Amino acid sequence: YKQTKPFPADFLWGASTSAYQVEGAWDQEGKGPSVIDMATFPDNISDFKVTSDHYHHFKTDVALFKELGLKTYRFSISWSRLFPAGDGEINPQGVAFYNQLIDEICNAGIEPLVTLYHFDLPYALQQQGGWSNRQTIDAFERYARTTFELYGDRVKYWLTINEQNMMILKGDVIGTLDPNTENPQKALYQQNHHMMLAQAKAMILCHTLLPQAKIGPAPNISCIYAASSKPEDNIAAQNYSSIRNWLYLDLACHGRYNALVWRFLEEKSLLPEILSGDMEVLRQGKPDFIAFNYYASTTVAADAPNTHAGEKKDPRAVEDQQLAGVYKNVYLGVDNPHLEHNEFGWYIDPVGFRVTCREIYERYAMPLIITENGLGAFDKLTADKKVYDDNRINYLRIHIEQLKLAISDGVELFGYCPWSAIDLVSTHQGISKRYGFIYVNRDEHDLKDMARYRKKSFFWYQRVIASNGEDL
Ligand code: BG6
Repeated sequence: YKQTKPFPADFLWGASTSAYQVEGAWDQEGKGPSVIDMATFPDNISDFKVTSDHYHHFKTDVALFKELGLKTYRFSISWSRLFPAGDGEINPQGVAFYNQLIDEICNAGIEPLVTLYHFDLPYALQQQGGWSNRQTIDAFERYARTTFELYGDRVKYWLTINEQNMMILKGDVIGTLDPNTENPQKALYQQNHHMMLAQAKAMILCHTLLPQAKIGPAPNISCIYAASSKPEDNIAAQNYSSIRNWLYLDLACHGRYNALVWRFLEEKSLLPEILSGDMEVLRQGKPDFIAFNYYASTTVAADAPNTHAGEKKDPRAVEDQQLAGVYKNVYLGVDNPHLEHNEFGWYIDPVGFRVTCREIYERYAMPLIITENGLGAFDKLTADKKVYDDNRINYLRIHIEQLKLAISDGVELFGYCPWSAIDLVSTHQGISKRYGFIYVNRDEHDLKDMARYRKKSFFWYQRVIASNGEDL
């Protein structure tokens, strides 16, 4: 039995996108290339040149978001649309685009929630070493200052860096690591240190320039279970939790490296170079809230005998372990026989969502907002232009139920932004892996007419918002 509390009256029901996955117009009106624009993709999936062409459809899209009833809309600014070379000259057409977009959002009565950087580092910075080069910290600070000055009159909620932890743990997939780097793991943890400094500086700047605004980090947090009650499995779960989750939030919230990860880095000769003054910056830059993305839980064991070879496994954990030999004997991703998984092998774990909210709130005692959560699926448009995405509705329903329980547990949660507001191109599985409430009529390579269609989940989420989470 649990006595439940309702969602707060001013709860920010929202939805999310990111610039490179939704905007398109990759080389139009002065935009410079990002690392994503210069990457190559398998022939059978879409690249990121056109995506959902939101750049040319933003008015229609925002009107649909208004109809959906969104209280907030989370999107990212493309750094290289504002600064084509990452630094230096500003692009007035880029400035104008985000002015129009933000005005459109505000006029629709929606609170903008802006991510500064969502995977799309300007390519010009990458050519100078990207996050391995400390000058990228200065470029980011300048970019952040400019966005605060340009849009801070209308934007109250800011996010620094999307899923920095995934960029470090999956350096060769979504990170910015040069493939020829001699010691990739060491380089990644050095990049991590630089990104942390960039984030801290942005938070300090935000508080100075926009005292009314709020800013926070946006890592991907997974709920991590020990595979069994075997004590060693619990050690492995703690190892993985620290490496995957807490390193990033401890640095953001407390300005310190946590002891477990520090020793891990030391043992593996991966310690970053820390210059004098760095830790002071990290201690000064504090968030006002914690945003996080949650999709799935992960189960880990201490060693191989606990794995169920050949059975379903969480690809995220298993991948991490295979990607980096340094994690050998630190944790091992294994199957969780208690959970179902989606079409892409991601475990569906709504209770893990509640566990994660409780755990983060217990550790950091800061207001929380969910900036991503959702179901990727091969949606089908019927002949009469309908999309019956009942699986998505079910996924979102059971996750929102758990949020309500988390709030009833005492967690201070002020918003929920599922991924994604509208269909967009997934990080590495094309547009066919759809997440949106709104269907975009295109295929991997056939751009068709880009028409927008409301999915069944659109009408469902509209009711959820209108009833403040009561009508699920
Ligand atoms: C998050 C990212 O990791 O998950 C998004 O912030 C991404 O950019 C989302 O699209 C879903 O992942 P994927 O790989 O299915 O696109």
